[in-house]
This record gives sequence, C-alpha cells and structure tokens, in this order.
Amino acid sequence: MKSTRLYTLFGSIASLPSLTAATNIPAGFSARCASLAQNFHPNHQTTVLAAELLLKGSNFTNPSPRPECIIANPILLVNVCRLRVNVSTSSTSSVIFEAWMPTDWERKGKRFVMTGNGGLGGCIAFDDLNYLSYLGFATLGHNNGHDGDTGLPFYKHPEVVKDFAYRALLTATKIGKKAVNQFYQQTLKKSYFVGCSSGGRQGLKAAQDFPEEFDGIVAGAAGANWNNLMSSVSYYWKYVANENKPLVLTAEQWTAWRDEVIKQCDLMDGVKDSVIEDPRKCHPRPEARLCAPGQTWESNKCFTGDQASVLRKIYEPFYGNNATFLFPGFMPGDETTTSLWFATNAPPYTVDWYRYAVLNDETWTVEEDFNLDAVDYANKVDLYNISTLKDLSKLKATGHKLLTYHGLADGLLSAENSDRYYESVVRRMGLPSSKLDSFYRYFPIAGLGHCAGGNGAWYVGGANQFSSAPATGTTVDPEGGVLLSMVKWVEEGVAPDRILGRGFSADGQTTLTKDHCKWPLKNTYLGGDPAKKRSWGCL
Ligand SMILES: *[C@@H]1O[C@H](CO)[C@@H](O)[C@H](O)[C@H]1NC(C)=O
Ligand SMILES: *[C@@H]1O[C@H](CO)[C@@H](O)[C@H](O)[C@H]1NC(C)=O
Ligand SMILES: *[C@@H]1O[C@H](CO)[C@@H](O)[C@H](O)[C@H]1NC(C)=O
Ligand SMILES: *[C@@H]1O[C@H](CO)[C@@H](O)[C@H](O)[C@H]1NC(C)=O
Repeated sequence: MKSTRLYTLFGSIASLPSLTAATNIPAGFSARCASLAQNFHPNHQTTVLAAELLLKGSNFTNPSPRPECIIANPILLVNVCRLRVNVSTSSTSSVIFEAWMPTDWERKGKRFVMTGNGGLGGCIAFDDLNYLSYLGFATLGHNNGHDGDTGLPFYKHPEVVKDFAYRALLTATKIGKKAVNQFYQQTLKKSYFVGCSSGGRQGLKAAQDFPEEFDGIVAGAAGANWNNLMSSVSYYWKYVANENKPLVLTAEQWTAWRDEVIKQCDLMDGVKDSVIEDPRKCHPRPEARLCAPGQTWESNKCFTGDQASVLRKIYEPFYGNNATFLFPGFMPGDETTTSLWFATNAPPYTVDWYRYAVLNDETWTVEEDFNLDAVDYANKVDLYNISTLKDLSKLKATGHKLLTYHGLADGLLSAENSDRYYESVVRRMGLPSSKLDSFYRYFPIAGLGHCAGGNGAWYVGGANQFSSAPATGTTVDPEGGVLLSMVKWVEEGVAPDRILGRGFSADGQTTLTKDHCKWPLKNTYLGGDPAKKRSWGCL
C-alpha cells in the first residue's frame, strides 16, 4: 500500500466527513448495528450501553469518567459500528468493553483483535481501536474492570483485582467474540491480541493461561514479574535515591546525565546515532562528571559524589532478602524517562498496589512501611497469579503464537525483564530457541523507548504507537511491523525473523529503517549508510 495515497485519502475525507463516508456503508450495516442494543444478550450478565454507527471523519468523544484516560479524542479513520457493553464478572465487579467493527471486515480477513491497557488502568486505548479498525480488524478494548489509572477501586474489592489480573480480559474477549460474530452474521476467522506495558503483561497472561482465545498474541514491554516491578521502583526511590539524603536532580541534570550516557556508549556499536544498540553492554561512569573540590553544578555542570553514587546504582539489580534476585536495574540511555520514578513523592503505582490491592491498608506508605519483608509478602500472596511468570506449555499445546518485543531504550521498564522471561521459558520448558521459534519469538527493539517514541527506528506497528507516530501512523505502511508479521505467521505460516522499524523526522518523513533482530541475535552494523536497513545484519 502506498502510504502517501492513504494520507491524501484520509486528509480529503476528514474535511468532508458525512458526504463521502456515507456512500461506503453497506446496506443494512447501520440498522444491524443499532439493533444490537435490543438483540445482543449473550447472557444475564451482559448489558448493552451503546450501539451506534460512527462515521469516518467524525470526532469521537472518549466517554471515560476519568480524566487520565482522556489522552485523545480520535477522529474516525473509517466507518465503524461501535458497541459498548457492560458485563458483570461477580456480584461486586464488572468490565466495560467497546467493539469497533468496520465495514471492510470481511474482505480484510474477518479478524478479531483485543487491545490492552496500561499502568494500573483502566483506560480503553481508543487510538488503537481507531487505527486497528482502519486496518480492517474488528477491534476491542476494555476497562480492565475499573475506570482510570489508579488502584483505589481495588480497595476491599478483591473481585476488581481479579478482573485486573486476568478476568476482565478473558470475559471481554469471550463476550466480544460473540458480539462480532452476531453483528457480521458470520464466524470470525482469526483472533489476535496486541498490548504494551500492562497490556504486554495481559498478553503474556493470555499466552500462559488462556492461549486458546488468541491465534496470535503480540506483547510489548510486558510488565511480567508484576509484584517485583511494582516494588522495584520504590526500592530505587527509597533505598537508592533517598537512603541517606534526598536525591535532588533537576530535569536539566537528568538530561545532562542521559546525554553523558549516550556519549559514553553510543559508539560501542560503531555508529554515532544516539542509539545504544545493546545497552546491556553499556556501563556508564558517572564519575566522569564528578565535581572537583570547589566545583558545583552551576559552575561546572558536574555531579557530587552522592549523586554519582546514586546514578551508578540505578543500573544495578534489585535484590531482596537473602540476596534473592527480584528485578533488573534500569537500562542506560533513557534517563530522562527513568527520572519519572525519582520524583519528590514515592511512585504512586507502588503506593496504590500495596495500599489497595495487597494490604487493604489506606495508611500504608513507602516512607514508613515499604521494606524487603513487605516485598516478600506481596510475592507470597501473588494476587490471582498476577506475577505472570508461568511457562508457555499451554500455548505450545494450542499451536498458537506469541511475539514479544521490548524497547532497548525503555527507561521506565527495563528490557532485561523481557530477556529474562524468554530465558526462563527456555530453561523451564527445556527448549532451545530453535524449538521455541515455532510458537514464541522475542524482538528487542533498539532505539525504542517505553512502547512508543525514541531516537531509533522505533515504529514497529505496536500498541500505543499509532497516535505517537507523525500523522497518526496512517502514513506508515504497517507491513513488516509486529502485528502484520504476526498475521502472516498465523495465516500464512511465514514466521518473522526480523521486525521492520522506522524512525521519523519532526515533519513526519521516514528517515530511518532497520530490521530488528530476533533474540538472541543482535542488530549489528555492517557498514554503509546507518539510516538504511541494508547496512545492518543480525549476528
Ligand atoms: C474535531 O477535533 C478536531 C481536533 O481535535 C477539532 O479541530 C475540530 O474542531 C473538531 N470538530 C468537531 C466537529 O468538533
Ligand atoms: C455495570 O454493571 C454493574 C453490575 O452488573 C453495575 O454495578 C455497574 O453500575 C454497571 N456500569 C455501568 C456503567 O453501567
Ligand atoms: C532467608 O534465609 C533464612 C535462613 O536460611 C530463612 O530462614 C528465611 O526463610 C529466608 N527468607 C526468605 C525470604 O527466603
Ligand atoms: C495460580 O496458578 C496456579 C497454577 O496454575 C493455580 O493452581 C492457582 O489456583 C492460581 N491461583 C489463583 C489465585 O488464581
């Protein structure tokens, strides 16, 4: 597909919404959509909240009651039938899901895709719904059992935690498939999942526990090892940054340190491009910027000994009682993002998780109550198996596929978490990579930050990327990215060895292309123009 043509098409239609759009709607589509309000009742737990036609070019207003969920009000890329449904999951919990069902579904392969959430959310990824329905998928998203990106709804509501751990996803998927089949009056052909961060964890959870639901699962920057992820950021905040005295680094200092890290490590891969191809090999040295006696940040842009000590330790792993490994340290190269965990206040995700989910104690604080015994306790209860660390025996038995990816410039959630999960599956299933390849492939993505954005060829068509790419991603051919590579793997049996990434200039032109390698191979510079994919190999 020629991307410029798509963009022109979208541009012209956006200015003439109802006129052009209405002509492409098949007979009966609109009436069948509206009739779902009366006719869709798969069980007594399910209530339809809305069933309406959304026209290409119209503005969609995000109906979430929580402001943090309203990051965008997308402009419809295609005509869809929008169904909003409430399904009660117990006497004290329920999940709300949306299905966006495009007109061009049958011709585009009768595909179903479920999208994921982020953080402690709670927020439907409407940008993903918009883009994936544009690609022809009947696209679903759900609120994960509660609205908003906070843990308060978990408080004394274990059923809401259960929804968050897995049940909201499983319920919305099962009921959502019935809705899609009923609306189109035929059976969907293939079913997919795409999600990043918490959504990546949801994908792994499905792969581990209910792989029969999805032919292909695409899980980015997965928050596996969930309990220790929640704990680790407060470990670094409390015991690394604020143990002796508060770490006070300004935004300017974090940026300077990030630039110093890139300066020290960028050339290790042979190319000066602000991308550290393999940050696992990068051991930055803050002492290189240590203040000499009498020097200060103001006079010399240097760090104190205490600051250097903290900046050194954020890359070291988080060990618990008895020196048990719990979580990897941060990966170098995206320190301005890492700094978000080092705000004045303790990381709110940890606070909410312990207060409202693990302990049901509103008075709990990181400052007073967080310690390694609390961490052991959270791991011991492992609410509804939210750690998401099982192996993939069930997935293997179904013959379904899992593709994971993780930004190597992810300063929020270390890609080493995905490396480690992969290797744990190798060990526990006793399968070398050549055997895992038939159902599980992992692609570290150099120059990609947390889910979206970065200095490298970061755009791989993953969750949360479409709205971050210039011009909503519709100018970019999705071929070769994570989702369409998965579709090819599932539907044509062609498994991906590489994932095509793209990087952009500020005005939205594609300036970089790179084929990202399948773990354990590494992107390796061969020579030539480093902005072109032919200059790189997988070794
Ligand atoms: C739709 O949203 C765009 C951008 O958010 C805005 O400029 C435009 O005025 C909106 N159109 C309508 C009809 O609300
Ligand atoms: C969804 O259903 C549950 C109970 O089944 C109810 O408590 C809740 O208010 C409903 N939510 C909405 C938005 O209708
Ligand atoms: C740590 O080791 C001690 C002594 O072996 C043992 O009693 C204790 O249970 C261990 N703690 C944990 C959290 O594994
Ligand atoms: C966690 O998973 C294990 C192993 O599959 C299972 O036996 C157990 O019931 C699960 N616990 C919960 C609370 O779901």
